[in-house]
Amino acid sequence: MSGHGEAQPMKSRKSGPLRGVAEVPGDKSISHRSLIFGAMAVGETRITGLLEGQDVLDTAKAMRAFGAVVTRVGEGAWTVNGVGVGGFREPADVLDVGNSGTGARLIMGTMATTPITATFTGDASLRKRPMGRVTDPLSLFGARAYGRQGGRLPMTIVGAANPVPVRYALPVASAQVKSAVLLAGLNAPGETVVIEREPTRDHSERMLVGFGAQLSVEKTGEGHVITLTGQPELRPQAVAVPRDPSSAAFPVCAALIVEGSDILVPGVSQNLTRNGLYLTLVEMGAEIEFLQPREEGGEPVADLRVRFSGAMQGIEVPPERAPSMIDEYPVLSVVAAFASGKTVMRGVKELRVKESDRIDAMARGLEACGVRIEEDEDTLIVHGCGAGGVPGGATCATHIDHRIAMSFLVCGLAAKAPVGVDDGSPIQTSFPVFERLMRGLGAEIERG
Ligand code: S3P
Repeated sequence: MSGHGEAQPMKSRKSGPLRGVAEVPGDKSISHRSLIFGAMAVGETRITGLLEGQDVLDTAKAMRAFGAVVTRVGEGAWTVNGVGVGGFREPADVLDVGNSGTGARLIMGTMATTPITATFTGDASLRKRPMGRVTDPLSLFGARAYGRQGGRLPMTIVGAANPVPVRYALPVASAQVKSAVLLAGLNAPGETVVIEREPTRDHSERMLVGFGAQLSVEKTGEGHVITLTGQPELRPQAVAVPRDPSSAAFPVCAALIVEGSDILVPGVSQNLTRNGLYLTLVEMGAEIEFLQPREEGGEPVADLRVRFSGAMQGIEVPPERAPSMIDEYPVLSVVAAFASGKTVMRGVKELRVKESDRIDAMARGLEACGVRIEEDEDTLIVHGCGAGGVPGGATCATHIDHRIAMSFLVCGLAAKAPVGVDDGSPIQTSFPVFERLMRGLGAEIERG
């Protein structure tokens, strides 16, 4: 939905202890992929726990435009009757993927090796984001892309009529680019190879194997070498989407900074390509217990018991950890503001091309809340004020970015004075029950 509606100002204030169980919704990355892979399988894929956020709903709509039958059968329960690899039909209209970089990039990959043409657009945030990082490798398959300057949406992709397989070393650590190349490789004959120097989230690889593709991952001196054999027949699956560790980050971080809090967050992924925030918080002195480790929906998960942690210390976050916590730096920078000493986040320039320039958005908002910040192109440094020490009292700009909005609302729960956001409506894209869930724990969050 590119019509990013009316701005919804929101505000949070210093709250009493957060208590209770925070059941966060389904993983956004796995939800997109379950719809897309389901659309490329022949037969009926059944999905439970699907995230019904706007980003994922926009991907469902796009899959219908390509000919898949996508049906909501209950809360979080969906079926997808797929058209098979190479079976996409040409959409009759422009595809509007709203706010979602994952939707745009994965779907471009999926159609790039089928001889059809599709035009993509999105909201004002997505129309600023670089698509060259996917259209460059897709052109190696034989696809052509016509977009705005700087490789921006709206953009038309003309799929390759005679695709060739590709060997591609990722120039940026990006699961979206990796996945776009693998999805394109599905309809190319022979072996498509993607090489990633730094491991990024591996949901596409795991799920493709589940759907019956022939895919292997080899660890070499160059990094992970992922080899996919093209033109398989994908088998429909029952997909149980696990909870989203990136959404769990918000109640977890809120409980760490709100005095007296003690909450349980069940089923948080411990997948090594997603758990960087949790490792970092523990290193800072966060009181988090990892209970009942088990598998859910093919992912290693644990229940997190999280208590207020008044003695957290800033640390230097290892830059090589960035891909496993890339979406969590905004809320980590809030926790860092309530820790003692400085937290140094290096190697984070990818944050500048997310739903907003997240280094800039967090730096400006935290400064307005009275926190000392240093930054450069690739670095964010937060000078902590200690537990309860953040002055707050500002209204922060969210730049159509859900995670910026939720991060500042978390900040306001422990700051001395309330913290507002100019627009909380983007929260709908990834965590539609955020407000209700947080209020249920005792968080004082209000609209207006
Ligand atoms: C995602 C990959 C990451 C992440 C995004 C979801 C995915 O983006 O920030 O929220 O589902 O593949 P990049 O691939 O751009 O790092």
